[in-house]
Amino acid sequence: MNTRPEIAVIGAGLMGHGIAWIFAAGGWPVRIFDPDPGARHAVQRKLSDISQLLETAHDAVERVQVCETLETAVYEAAFVFEAAPENLELKRRIFTDLCRLTPSACILATNTSALPIGRISEGLSCRERIVGTHFWNPPHLVPLVEVVEVEGVNGAVVAPMMTLLREAGRHPVHARKDVPGFIGNRLQHALKREAIALVANGVCDAETIDDVVKLGFGRRLAVLGPMEQSDLVGLDLTASIHATIMPDLDNTDTVHPYLRERVQAGDLGMKTGRGFRRWTNENAAAVRRRLSDFLAASVRDAAADTRET
Ligand SMILES: NC(=O)c1ccc[n+]([C@@H]2O[C@H](COP(=O)([O-])OP(=O)(O)OC[C@H]3O[C@@H](n4cnc5c(N)ncnc54)[C@H](O)[C@@H]3O)[C@@H](O)[C@H]2O)c1
Repeated sequence: MNTRPEIAVIGAGLMGHGIAWIFAAGGWPVRIFDPDPGARHAVQRKLSDISQLLETAHDAVERVQVCETLETAVYEAAFVFEAAPENLELKRRIFTDLCRLTPSACILATNTSALPIGRISEGLSCRERIVGTHFWNPPHLVPLVEVVEVEGVNGAVVAPMMTLLREAGRHPVHARKDVPGFIGNRLQHALKREAIALVANGVCDAETIDDVVKLGFGRRLAVLGPMEQSDLVGLDLTASIHATIMPDLDNTDTVHPYLRERVQAGDLGMKTGRGFRRWTNENAAAVRRRLSDFLAASVRDAAADTRET
């Protein structure tokens, strides 16, 4: 008999099916709801694809039950993970329903990319049960999850959520304040702000930016974070570099005009054939495959290391 508590996932899109797979693969019974019949229909195939990619047993797929209503997905859940579209009003409506439909001990998580958790839960009757859990795409291949506390509101549910995520093989980190973008997206978009400014100023093209990151400091980022790298080279050197370049770094405090112009021109990236760079269907598919193969190989290697020790 399965003694693990029930997990519910709300939204079966890109993130939702991967989150469902993580818990099902760890032995939890999972129910997943999506109002779109097409998304519901695709769940089993997408879960099978993950099992195949990671060369794991198929039983995870069988532990996921696809539900046609929110009520049936959540009425017995101990943890709910919401992965519906990034829209504040939609998320507030979903959490209003979840407050009413879930047991009072159930912990409710939102996978919002950047919306402050306190804005989603503001004024709701169960706001002390609502916490941010920011998974990274694809969630079954990237181990980090940012668990976001809303000061003075949801502190009691942070530790049980971190424990659950650890048991499910994730690497949770605690964001102690509910700032927009949490930790990872603030770091990632600080880098993008400067990258866009360098291209807009004619210092280099977009391809060169990607080469500098992938072939330069990106080579070590997976094993050496920026704080330990600073400690490695010395904070005195870091301070003297900052004294020179900080006054010159871009400090645009809104969408950069160069990015706004690309969007207005309909240059949205791989899906339109042109963004910062030009794309054919073939080379866009090759980039997606390269990323998935790289991440899947690191997950399989980590699993093999665990089996050997
Ligand atoms: N895509 C990413 O890289 C990424 C990374 C981290 C976090 N997120 C966040 O995760 C959330 C989901 O993103 P996604 O990329 O999976 O989106 P998606 O569009 O792929 O999936 C969203 C799913 O939600 C369903 N949905 C619509 N209305 C709903 C409702 N009322 N109740 C339940 N489900 C509903 C849609 O039918 C769709 O299947 C967003 O908040 C997003 O910002 C996305």
